[in-house]
Amino acid sequence: MDKGILSLRALGLIESPASIMPLIDSFNRTIDYLRVSVTDRCNFRCVYCMPEEGAEVATKADILTFEEIERLVGIAMRLGMSKIRLTGGEPLVRKDIALLVARIGALHGLTDFSLTTNASILAPLALPFARAGLNRINISLDTLRPERFSRIARRGELQAVLQGIEAAKLAGLTPIKLNCVVMRGWNEDEVLDFARLTLMQPFDVRFIELMPINWSKGEDGGQGMDSFFALSAPSDEYQRPGSIPLYAKSELASLRSTFHEKSVASTQLDATAMRKAFVSSREIREQIEQEFGVLEPAEVVANGPARSYRVNGGLGTVGFISQITNDMCLTCNRLRLTADGQLRPCLMADGEVDLRTPLRSGATDSDIEELFRMTVLHKPKEHRLEDGSAPVGRSMSQLGG
Ligand code: GTP
Ligand code: 5AD
Ligand code: SF4
Repeated sequence: MDKGILSLRALGLIESPASIMPLIDSFNRTIDYLRVSVTDRCNFRCVYCMPEEGAEVATKADILTFEEIERLVGIAMRLGMSKIRLTGGEPLVRKDIALLVARIGALHGLTDFSLTTNASILAPLALPFARAGLNRINISLDTLRPERFSRIARRGELQAVLQGIEAAKLAGLTPIKLNCVVMRGWNEDEVLDFARLTLMQPFDVRFIELMPINWSKGEDGGQGMDSFFALSAPSDEYQRPGSIPLYAKSELASLRSTFHEKSVASTQLDATAMRKAFVSSREIREQIEQEFGVLEPAEVVANGPARSYRVNGGLGTVGFISQITNDMCLTCNRLRLTADGQLRPCLMADGEVDLRTPLRSGATDSDIEELFRMTVLHKPKEHRLEDGSAPVGRSMSQLGG
């Protein structure tokens, strides 16, 4: 290496290689956030995510070990990915998860270390996690009513989740973001209860539009996404440029975007049921504003895809995650690592790059860095749900949201 460069670096006059070469995709987005799914298993069976019985799960041999995850996270961080989130399935059902939290929490250069969980077994772990370096937690919570909880999550109990939320609060794992997937006929009549919760509690409630991940044909033969969009009048902010190519270098076989219809177990919502249940962010917002008046824009720490507001006088905020009716792709900053070691540039497209095989066949760190760079270069500009291109290769429990 050039000695001049070395000494300049020592003097702090030039930046380290990682900051010279951040991951920037073909659409000029800086990719600095890695979502790491640590398991595809879950102790719940949410109706929009998993079948009640017979969910396919990966074998232990297929799943990355903690050492492998730590190595990949370390490499990602050297490439400038300083925000790491652990997801699942349900990450806390992975044996000894606290050890992994501690190993990642000890890595130098993390700016945001978070976890998404259903919180059902969080209570005893919240404090150890906070001590191990976890900064904050997002929690799935679709209902505040115990009997409904049994209908939607189909396993576990609301009370345990509420205890988990309380423990996260006491442990200082804040801000605490509550993810509520709104579904007509299931929980849309609880929107105001959730909004009211933010008056007295410092939670960031995020209302999430139901996404057609791993959907099946449904009764109407699965005619692409048209009816989703017909159901959801685009919001005022909606502006999807149509003329720019959607995929960079999409000829690459490993990153092809596939669309094939498939049948899913009948106990999971199929395409028809999802379309019927879909509620747009705009409708939810109107409901809240009718009751509480105009929402004020609010700043939320480390805000990802949500647009956030405050109900007048509220301690917390209400946010909207509008993958269907809004263009959150424009600012997408993330990659996903699946539990079985595939690097995925987009939640909504099935393309993936295999990291597990090279990892287990002696690849060097710089070989793997190259695979990260290649994946980033092929990150699609935006999802193509309108064109009928919904992801079907994996369920949400295998993708980690
Ligand atoms: P913060 O960074 O804490 O705001 O949240 P987050 O979005 O990173 O994390 P979380 O796991 O809580 O995800 C919330 C919702 O956003 C879930 O329904 C995710 O599926 C959805 N979501 C997260 N990332 C993406 C993405 O890249 N694309 C799309 N379409 N949806 C996403
Ligand atoms: N549509 C929208 N959100 C979903 N989630 C899981 N499946 C879906 C879906 N089909 C949410 C969960 C969790 C987050 C990571 O993703 O509620 O909070
Ligand atoms: Fe529900 Fe999350 Fe489990 Fe899926 S992975 S069943 S959304 S708790």
